[in-house]
Amino acid sequence: MEKTAIPRHIGVIMDGNGRWAAKRGMPRTFGHKAGAKAFRRLVENCLKRKIPYVTVYAFSTENWKRPQKEVDAIMNLLGEYLDEAFEHEEENKDICVKVLGDIAPFAPELKEKICKLEEQSKHRTGITVNIALNYGGRDELVHGIRSLIQKVNEGTLRAEEIDEEQVSQSLYTAGQPDPDLIIRPSGELRLSNFMIWQAAYSEFVFMDVLWPDFGEKELDEALRQYAMRNRRFGAVS
Ligand code: FPP
Repeated sequence: MEKTAIPRHIGVIMDGNGRWAAKRGMPRTFGHKAGAKAFRRLVENCLKRKIPYVTVYAFSTENWKRPQKEVDAIMNLLGEYLDEAFEHEEENKDICVKVLGDIAPFAPELKEKICKLEEQSKHRTGITVNIALNYGGRDELVHGIRSLIQKVNEGTLRAEEIDEEQVSQSLYTAGQPDPDLIIRPSGELRLSNFMIWQAAYSEFVFMDVLWPDFGEKELDEALRQYAMRNRRFGAVS
């Protein structure tokens, strides 16, 4: 099986913001602010390395259980990023931004910012940055299955035609390659409902660094580990 050093798609579970802030005696929101900076660095570094897709887990379907103040702070950071990316069109001319997840419950202003940036950036070809928001892998599958059933009910799809490709194309990541590499910093060894269908053959790199400290060096270390893996996709080498 072909071995490629640079993955086509990287998924990143941006974990450890709270602990990073606690270590500094600061509120969790301080950690998220630093986490948003690390996200910007990641995009820049992936673009430099010609990685065509990166997906970050920014807000899960379970994150609504956090204190309202923390949820608001994360939403504000997202809003700031969306504004900045929209306004600095020239600087972001190679970045296509797409939101993965059910944005229905978001504030109308945030939804508008998402739609505006997705529309403005949709033809850019350097890198696609997927921001997973109100995202859960199981929830994504439920949405996808419902859309397939609707097609069957409308008569545009036969139940027997539903195969793995149809399911893949019913997900938020339709048309994109599956992640070759999933990186989780912060020392936790879980997938936490992130891209559970798409991760079937992903390589995993778990790192002890907390997300706000994740930079170029850490990305290169994850890429180095990835390049050493022997991906067989169920076949023999
Ligand atoms: C997980 O760390 C992090 C989150 C739930 C939020 C991630 C959000 C950002 C990085 C900021 C906004 C993003 C963008 C795209 C601008 P945690 O809080 O669970 O950390 P802990 O496990 O140490 O408590």
